[in-house]
Amino acid sequence: MRAPVLPPPEAAEPSRERLISSTKEMPNVEQLAGDFWSIRGDFRIAGILNIGTQMSLVRQSNGRFLLIDSYRPEEEELSAVRALTNGGEAIDAIVNVHPFHTLHCRVLHELFPRATLIGTERHHREYPDLPWSKDRIEDTSTQERFGADLEFAIPSGVDFVCQDERVHVGSALVRHRSSRILHVDDTINVFTPPALLRALLPSPRLRFHPMLARALGDRADAADAFEQWALGLAEAWADTTVVCAAHSAIHRPRSFREEMEAALAAVKPVLALHRRRFAG
Ligand SMILES: [Fe+2]
Repeated sequence: MRAPVLPPPEAAEPSRERLISSTKEMPNVEQLAGDFWSIRGDFRIAGILNIGTQMSLVRQSNGRFLLIDSYRPEEEELSAVRALTNGGEAIDAIVNVHPFHTLHCRVLHELFPRATLIGTERHHREYPDLPWSKDRIEDTSTQERFGADLEFAIPSGVDFVCQDERVHVGSALVRHRSSRILHVDDTINVFTPPALLRALLPSPRLRFHPMLARALGDRADAADAFEQWALGLAEAWADTTVVCAAHSAIHRPRSFREEMEAALAAVKPVLALHRRRFAG
């Protein structure tokens, strides 16, 4: 009897990066762990530039499901979600974690109307007619409801909702405990060098939102608070296996801690400028 043909080792090694494609040629529902699926789709600025967006499906330890974020799935993606969740009946809640990711909340609620709808205070304001749970995700007590399976972090030193509505730095980061996969919108991005420069620049890496300077609170200690938060997160979630970043990529960091420290080093001038501006 012939031995089964095994794939070469390099084929067994998962790709470290899954870049968002502007086409539908790549599968948009990807099972990243036994109980975690990432669903990625198109999101176009001004209808042209596709920066992509994401939603995650998590199977809780009780066997029921949560959707993290709202995205209007294509037919194929919707079928996959329905197949996993008994037609949607097994989805307990839709948990919207970014105050400015609101566009698809209504349609996702309409697709899964029996799921408890959770959002931020801004979601409530934007769509007052939707049947939001009174519990808001920025509140620790709400986060604790999902504590068996998820852990949350909200950056310190920055406004969760900036008055300047172009600044989307603040959000609730979510980490799935069992897979150690991080779902993050906007607060942290994955910077991937353009193809032509990949030989010269370091490989894809984590970066804080480019508008961090505008999100830091108007107070002297905001920069320190953000720095301490980022260092604490780097340590607490050092064993993160995958980072699902909304508008950039699914990224498998070699070391989450080191990449976060490098991201922090890259914004040192921003933090220094802020400290000087609000000193004394
Ligand atoms: Fe965003």
